[in-house]
Amino acid sequence: MAADIVQNQLTRKPDSVLGLATGETPVQMYHELVRRHRAKRLDLTRITSFNLDEYAGLPPEHPGSYTYYMRERFFDAIPLPSGRGHMPDGLAADPEAAAREYERRIQTAGGIDLQILGIGTNGHIGFNEPGSTLDSRTRLVELTAETIARNSQLFPEGETAPGQAVTVGIGTILEARQIVLLACGPAKARAIRETVEGPVCATCPGSALQTHANCIVLLDDAAAAELQLPPAQSQSA
Ligand code: F6R
Repeated sequence: MAADIVQNQLTRKPDSVLGLATGETPVQMYHELVRRHRAKRLDLTRITSFNLDEYAGLPPEHPGSYTYYMRERFFDAIPLPSGRGHMPDGLAADPEAAAREYERRIQTAGGIDLQILGIGTNGHIGFNEPGSTLDSRTRLVELTAETIARNSQLFPEGETAPGQAVTVGIGTILEARQIVLLACGPAKARAIRETVEGPVCATCPGSALQTHANCIVLLDDAAAAELQLPPAQSQSA
């Protein structure tokens, strides 16, 4: 379904600006997009993309880095002209200047047309951990112990995920014209309930999405299991 939404967006506007997420959740979406691209059912070469986040201090060739993830799952299969697949710079000598530059590039590209999001078990979107202000912008952040432990599962044996990352802000995410939030599995059920049915507050960054006029939430049954309001009211998919 997420690949269909991306395809519909690219049918309307082939040179769309996409906001992209990493992590386990969108792996099948990338696989399906690449499959359609190879089958010539979809042309992904005209997009511009901006990823949500990158670890600080991790070289792009490290298998745990999000740059490596994107190359493996997407960019190597869809060679974009240079300068059109953007990643936040986790190695910048001046992270604040690099963050401002990332925001400027998003603006120069015309803003994000379609933002793909996953969600953390603690409700984070991008790497905006609980407590991030709802109007936050791209910046260097500290990751919580829960996020570091969970994300270390995707690192080579014996290695731990870095404690800092660069993430676009919640305010940056909310400026996208359309947002699709993906969540699968029981570990996400509480975060999804708080995101969809809880109060809008910084303790659950995902809840900020309630204020967006065009946000679709795609869930499997396990991630939707704790929703209490009928779907018509909660707007869950
Ligand atoms: C990744 C990102 C994170 C993940 C979230 C869920 O770019 O921004 O917010 O979407 O941590 O990760 P998974 O999908 O691995 O459960």
